[in-house]
Amino acid sequence: MKISIFGMGYVGVVSAACLLRDGHEIIGVDPVAAKVADLSQGRSPIQEPGVPELLAKGYQAGRLKATTETSQALAGSEMVWICVGTPSRPDGGIDLSSVETVIKQIGRCLAGSADRPLIVLRSTCLPGTTSNHVIPLLEKESGLTVGKDIHVVFHPEFLREGTAVDDFFSPPKIVIGQAGSGAGNLLVEVYRNYHAPMFRLKLGEAEVVKYYDNLFHALKITFANEVAAVAKSAGVDARKVAEVFCADTKLNISSHYLRPGPAFGGSCLPKDLRAILRFAAVNSLRLPVLESVLASNEVQIKNLVARILSYRPRTVGMVGLAFKTNTDDMRESPYVKVAKELIGEGIKLKIYDPAVQPDRLIGSNRQQVQEALRHLEKLLVSSPEDLCATDLIVVNHAIIDADCIHSWLAAGIRVLDVANIKGVDRRADGYEGIYW
Ligand SMILES: NC(=O)c1ccc[n+]([C@@H]2O[C@H](COP(=O)([O-])OP(=O)(O)OC[C@H]3O[C@@H](n4cnc5c(N)ncnc54)[C@H](O)[C@@H]3O)[C@@H](O)[C@H]2O)c1
Repeated sequence: MKISIFGMGYVGVVSAACLLRDGHEIIGVDPVAAKVADLSQGRSPIQEPGVPELLAKGYQAGRLKATTETSQALAGSEMVWICVGTPSRPDGGIDLSSVETVIKQIGRCLAGSADRPLIVLRSTCLPGTTSNHVIPLLEKESGLTVGKDIHVVFHPEFLREGTAVDDFFSPPKIVIGQAGSGAGNLLVEVYRNYHAPMFRLKLGEAEVVKYYDNLFHALKITFANEVAAVAKSAGVDARKVAEVFCADTKLNISSHYLRPGPAFGGSCLPKDLRAILRFAAVNSLRLPVLESVLASNEVQIKNLVARILSYRPRTVGMVGLAFKTNTDDMRESPYVKVAKELIGEGIKLKIYDPAVQPDRLIGSNRQQVQEALRHLEKLLVSSPEDLCATDLIVVNHAIIDADCIHSWLAAGIRVLDVANIKGVDRRADGYEGIYW
C-alpha cells in the first residue's frame, strides 16, 4: 500500500520504518528540510534502536521517499497517517496548531485532486477533537463530505521510545476510532499479520483510550515512588515490597478496582490511608498523590448527591447501604454518607439492603451507622418492590436485575445506576449510569 506519513518525529519515523518492513511504500512529509534530506538518503532523523536498519532496507528497495510538499506526498496515496506533535501550550492546554496546519494542507490538496485516501490521525488529541475540529476543518478545506466522499479514523499510538520498533510490531492493542462502521477497514488490512487485540470504537472512545493509558501510567509511577518513600523511611527496601506487590496478579496487577463505579469505603481503605498519611507527616514525607486520594473519593460522593438532588426528588429509593455487596459492614460506607445528606435535604428515603439487619448490628458498625442514620430500621424495606413509590432509585449494589430496573422505568421512576447492572437498555428513558 502507498502510505504518506505527515510528521517525521518519533512516531512518524518509527511508523515509516515498520511499515517499510511490512512491504509498504512510504512517503514521509515534514517541514524540516534537514529531516527530509536525511530520509531522502535512507538515513534516520531520530535515534531509535532498529529504525536505521529498517529505513535503509526500505530505501534500498526503492520504497522510501520524503518531501516537504503535501501535494507530492498525497498523489496516489491510499492512506495518510498524521503523526505531528500535539505539545503543551504555556497554559497547559493542548496545542493543535500542527494538526490544524496538516489538515488544512491535506484538505486543499484533496479539493484539487481525485485522490481519496483514508485519513488516519495518530497524534494524541483530546476527546472530541476528531469530530469537532478535524473533520469540520477537512470538510471546509476540501469541499468533501467525511463518511461519504472520504473517511477519517483516529488511531492512537502506544509505542514507547527506546523500544518503539518492538512495540510497533507487538502492540498491546490496536485501537481504531471511526465515525461509520466500515471507515477503518483499509487500516485493518495493515495489521492483518499482527497479533494483538483489536478494538474498533467510536472516535471519542478511541481518543479517551490514549489518555486513560497515559494517565494511569503516570499515576502508577508516582504511586510506586510515594509508597517506596514510605517504605524507605521505615528502613524497608521498597524493591522487595514492590516485587511482592507485583506478584499479586489477582487483586493488584489486574482489572480489579479499575472499573468506573462507586466511591470506596469500608473499614480498611480510608483508615489505612489516614494512618500512612499521618506516618508520612510525622516523618516529614510529602505524598501529594496519596494525600489527595481521600479528597477525590469525597468528591465522588458529593457528585452523586448533587446528581440525585438535581432531579429534585421528594422520595428516593436506595439499593444497597453497606459499603459493598454481600456484607452488613457500614463503616465508612459512601452510601451511608449519601443517605445522611439526602435526609438532611428533607428527602424521604427508602433503603433496600437484605444484608443489613439493624437488630443484628454490633460494635463499631452499629455505633457508626447509628450516628449517621439514627432511625435506620424505619428507612429499610424488605423487597425491591417496596421502592416503587419513589421518584428516583439509586442502585448501589448489583443485587437486583435488569428486569427490576425496567419495571421501575416503566412505572416512571428515574434510575441512577452506580453498580452497572447487566442487561439494562442504556437508552431507556429515565435510566442513567454513573459514568456511562
Ligand atoms: N513520542 C512518543 O513516544 C509517542 C508515543 C505515542 C503517541 N505519541 C503522540 O504522537 C504525536 C507525535 O509525537 P512525536 O513524539 O513523534 O512528535 P515529534 O515532535 O517528535 O514530531 C512531530 C513532527 O511533526 C512535524 N510537523 C510539524 N508540523 C508539520 C506539518 N505541517 N506537516 C508535516 N510535519 C509536521 C515536526 O517537524 C516534527 O518532525 C504526539 O501527539 C504524541 O503525543 C508520541
